[in-house]
Amino acid sequence: MRAIVYDRYGPPDVLRIEDVERPVPNEDEVLVRVRAVAVTRADCATREANRRSGVAVALISRSISGVRRPKQRILGSEFAGEVEAVGSAVREFAVGDQLFGTSGFRFGAYAEFIRVREAARIAHKPAGLSFAEAAAIPDGGLNALWCLRGADLQKGQRILIYGASGAIGSAGVQLARHLGADVTAVCGTKNLDLARSLGADRVIDYTQEDFTRNGQTYAVIFDAVGKHSFARCKRSLTRGGRYLATDGFRNLFLALWTSRFGDRKVVFRIPPRYTKQDVVLLKELIEARRFRPVLDRCYPFADVIEATRYVETEHKTGNVVLTI
Ligand SMILES: NC(=O)c1ccc[n+]([C@@H]2O[C@H](COP(=O)([O-])OP(=O)(O)OC[C@H]3O[C@@H](n4cnc5c(N)ncnc54)[C@H](OP(=O)(O)O)[C@@H]3O)[C@@H](O)[C@H]2O)c1
Repeated sequence: MRAIVYDRYGPPDVLRIEDVERPVPNEDEVLVRVRAVAVTRADCATREANRRSGVAVALISRSISGVRRPKQRILGSEFAGEVEAVGSAVREFAVGDQLFGTSGFRFGAYAEFIRVREAARIAHKPAGLSFAEAAAIPDGGLNALWCLRGADLQKGQRILIYGASGAIGSAGVQLARHLGADVTAVCGTKNLDLARSLGADRVIDYTQEDFTRNGQTYAVIFDAVGKHSFARCKRSLTRGGRYLATDGFRNLFLALWTSRFGDRKVVFRIPPRYTKQDVVLLKELIEARRFRPVLDRCYPFADVIEATRYVETEHKTGNVVLTI
C-alpha cells in the first residue's frame, strides 16, 4: 500500500510517499481503508520533534517518539474510511462500514490502510458527512472536549475562547455552547461570521481589540490556539476563574503553582486522554445538529508537503485534510 513516511525529524520535505506492507488485522482489530486523514498541528510538531517549543520540549518529544529518528514512520491520527476486513472477534463493525476516529499517538493514518482495535477510539461515521468532513471531527473535537472538562464549566458561566477559528477553537465554541455557557469568541476579521454561526454569543476581532482591556471578566478563558498567556489573561478572569492552556511548556509549571497558590488557576492536562465514548458523543452531537466539523482545505494525498506547509502557517480555519 502507499503511505506517507518519514525517516528523520525535520521540515515538511522529509515526508515522502513509499510502498509499504499492508497491515493485517488481529482478531480484535478492523482494517480500515483510509479515505481521508487530517493534517494536524500534532503531526507537524511530532515530525519536527517539537523544535519550535525549545530544547526541553524537544528532548521530551524525542524520548517519546524516538531519540535519534522516529520510531513510527507513518504520521496521521485522525482519519475516516471504510472497513476493508475484520478480525474474527470483531462484533461492532462489518466489512463496508464507514467509520471515523483517532489512532492517537500510535499515528499510522497517513496511509491507504490502518488497523485499529475495535475497542479503540472509533465510531460509525455520522450519516450525511463526507469522509473529509468526518476526518475533521476528532482533532479539535476531542481536544476541546478534554480541555473543557478540565474547567468544570457550568451552565450560564461566561467563557472566552481565544483562537476560536482553529481546529480546537471552532470545536470549543460549539461544545461550550452545548454545555450551556455564555460564549465570547475571539478570532480574526475573516472568521467573525464563522464564530457566530458556530454559536458564539459575542465575537471579538483580535486584530482590532485587546479583550484584556475592555473590562469584561470570564469564569473560563480557553486559549485554544496557545498564543495568549495566563499573565495577560489574569485580570479578565473572575475570582476562582480558570485559564485553559493547549500549548506552552511554562503552563505546566503554572498549572502546578496555581493549583496551590492564588485564586485563579491554570489548567493544562497533558497528555490528553481521549475515549471511545468521546468519539461516540461527537458523532451523536453531529447527528443532533449540535456540532459540525469545520473544514478549511482538502488536498490530494500526494500533496502532503503543501498541506503541511499550510497547516504550519498557523492560520488554517478549522481543519485540513488529505483525501485518498
Ligand atoms: N495539548 C494537546 O494535546 C494539543 C493537541 C493538539 C494541538 N495542540 C496545540 O493547540 C494549539 C491549537 O491547535 P489547532 O490545531 O487548533 O490550531 P490551528 O487550527 O492551527 O489554529 C489556527 C487558527 O488560529 C488563529 N490564530 C492564529 N494566530 C492567532 C492569534 N495570535 N490570536 C488569535 N487567533 C489566532 C488563526 O486565525 P487567523 O488566521 O485569523 O489568525 C487560525 O484560524 C496549537 O498550539 C497546538 O500545538 C495541543
